[in-house]
Amino acid sequence: MPEADDKANVTRNYGIGIPVETEGFFLKASNNLDWGMKDRLSRIFNPKTGHTVMLAFDHGYIMGPTSGLERLDLSVNPLVPYADVLMCTRGALRAVIPPDSGKPVCLRCSAGATVLKELSNEVVGVAIEDAVRLNASAITVQAYIGGEHERETIGNLCKIINAGNRYGIPTLAVTAVGREMARDARYLSLACRVCAEVGAHFVKTYFCAEDFEKVTASCPIPCVIAGGKKIPELDALQMARNAIDQGAHGVDMGRNIFQADDPVAMLKAVRAVVHDGEPAEKALDLYQTLKSEKG
Ligand code: 5RP
Repeated sequence: MPEADDKANVTRNYGIGIPVETEGFFLKASNNLDWGMKDRLSRIFNPKTGHTVMLAFDHGYIMGPTSGLERLDLSVNPLVPYADVLMCTRGALRAVIPPDSGKPVCLRCSAGATVLKELSNEVVGVAIEDAVRLNASAITVQAYIGGEHERETIGNLCKIINAGNRYGIPTLAVTAVGREMARDARYLSLACRVCAEVGAHFVKTYFCAEDFEKVTASCPIPCVIAGGKKIPELDALQMARNAIDQGAHGVDMGRNIFQADDPVAMLKAVRAVVHDGEPAEKALDLYQTLKSEKG
């Protein structure tokens, strides 16, 4: 039992006249969220820079053993210390990621399709209780806007948003572009806006060379970009630079990191662009220096 407060004559400092500060939250669109959501979003986006470098290695759930990810333990674990967030399936997480790595996880919750069939034919494959059990900082499925199963995949997105809201876990909506859709600003703005309006907390989109500002400006929640297929290092770094300069809040990159000749050096170079504001050429110098140091 607490002891009785017997210091009845001590002057109390109630700070009368000093208003309690109510600070805004650093992240776009997130000021009105609950504490747990904000806590998790602060693990995903660096409060100092407002940006994130997410490492995506969830490809296996549709592609099987993707080049560069054949041995998840050997390819991913050296990258873990340099990533802000790990985006992966629960299978990969439990199998290879050390639980004491301290990294926030964006948990891939979709299942049901592979590259052998129609990709948009997905379902939600992970129960929210398992996401809680894994201490996920975010959950994610993809929405195939304009795809064959558009309605079902937007439905999947709504399902996980509703489930995540019950537990304070934010949802990343991945905009998946159907094979027949053009990856232009008009399409990507539509896709991102739909994901935001149904309640996603942040969205993953592709970068487009023209009018990408339209995508970020017309999307009320933070956008991060996917890397896409492997391209030369300078091009990938320039894409990240352009995306950040045009309003993206970070990258969620996979193949351009783990398929690089030196994945750790590439991840560090991407961080230099996203968090330190470096130009692509300077980040490439860093990449080459780090790579040559390894011999
Ligand atoms: C696919 C995904 C993947 O995680 C992501 O797109 C892969 O990243 P990258 O394109 O950079 O290899 O969300 O829908």
